[in-house]
Amino acid sequence: MTEKKIRGMDVVITDVEREQIMARMNRVLSRGWFIWGDEQEEFQKQFATLTGREHAVTLNSATAGLECLFRILADRGRQIVCFQANNFPSPVMAALRAGLEVTWADIDPQALCPSEVELEQAYAEIRFDVLVLTWTGGFVSADVEAIRRWAKDRAVYLIEDASHAAGSFSGGRPAGSFGDTAVFSLAATKALHTGQGGMLLTDDAEIRDRVFRMKNYGRTELFQRGQYVEPSGFNAQMTELQAAVGNVLIQTMPLRVAERTRWAERYAPLLPELGHRKGCAPNFYKYPALVPRAEDQAALKEFLAGRQIELGSAIYEFVTPALDVWAQAPHPTGPWAPGDFPQALEYSRRHVALPMHNGLSQEDVERVGEAVTAYFRQTRQAP
Ligand SMILES: Cc1ncc(COP(=O)(O)O)c(C=O)c1O
Repeated sequence: MTEKKIRGMDVVITDVEREQIMARMNRVLSRGWFIWGDEQEEFQKQFATLTGREHAVTLNSATAGLECLFRILADRGRQIVCFQANNFPSPVMAALRAGLEVTWADIDPQALCPSEVELEQAYAEIRFDVLVLTWTGGFVSADVEAIRRWAKDRAVYLIEDASHAAGSFSGGRPAGSFGDTAVFSLAATKALHTGQGGMLLTDDAEIRDRVFRMKNYGRTELFQRGQYVEPSGFNAQMTELQAAVGNVLIQTMPLRVAERTRWAERYAPLLPELGHRKGCAPNFYKYPALVPRAEDQAALKEFLAGRQIELGSAIYEFVTPALDVWAQAPHPTGPWAPGDFPQALEYSRRHVALPMHNGLSQEDVERVGEAVTAYFRQTRQAP
């Protein structure tokens, strides 16, 4: 009998969720109105409640939300934005499009983002005035309060890229509640998703209003009634059908997080996950862990593939500032080499993401555990 393949990533909608989504979608279809309405209003309210924020704005992606925010910050005189060196590239592209300069901080691999030490190093080199922290894999830094104070003392505007972190907490506070403004991705594979989509959270009413106008062709109001007032307007709207998905999945999210937390507890004795320190309750969007040697990254992947087990996609196997793509965006603070960020480089070569999703069963997780143990036994290493 051939063994069932265990996927590294899967997206599961339960029958109950499907029924609830279909009921909401039916209401949208019978109204015949897809672009703005009750579903999005409700979704914004639910998100604001989840994160303890005053304002939430639906978008078609996190990238669009970040681009709107960067444009507003540029208009307010901000000039240089610092990203962590292990990161998804699209937020950086958004900052460059908004006319900001970009600089980088190395990461603390245990925290999966920079600590004050790496921030201080980066700040000593280039005095940035915007900082984007990414909650990689759903892990909010245990040092987030200290980082907030660090940023406040230097008048650095703090943005949480909480794209991976819906439903994560640190010190009892939810992801999305720490930065001056936070952005979540709701793209198809995320811990909370609407197929495609994004959400911006802020307590700043001017940011809310301008992002609303920017995502709406630069108009003050929806549809033809509005005045065109934002020259950087574009179309970055969510649809009611997407919000219908979000309104259901945001309510069931704690159940999915609880299940993934159980899988993480099974994995922890084999390969302790990164980023998860006292006070953090990650959503386990991913389970990133360090392997003892760089060669184990590819070797473990191959070993598991031989047993019909796929790893999750690594986050990230590259040092973002050293990607070739930036050579086409010449920039006073570049170019950067991977070795400029030694901790991000080491992490990029030495981490794996064990299978983590809600399509796993207890049996699957046991099989992954046994296979990882067998790999380390074979290579005679303690993990
Ligand atoms: C950390 C991070 N930021 C931003 C994004 C962009 O999100 P979106 O696809 O919603 O634009 C992603 C997408 O994968 C991401 O992983």
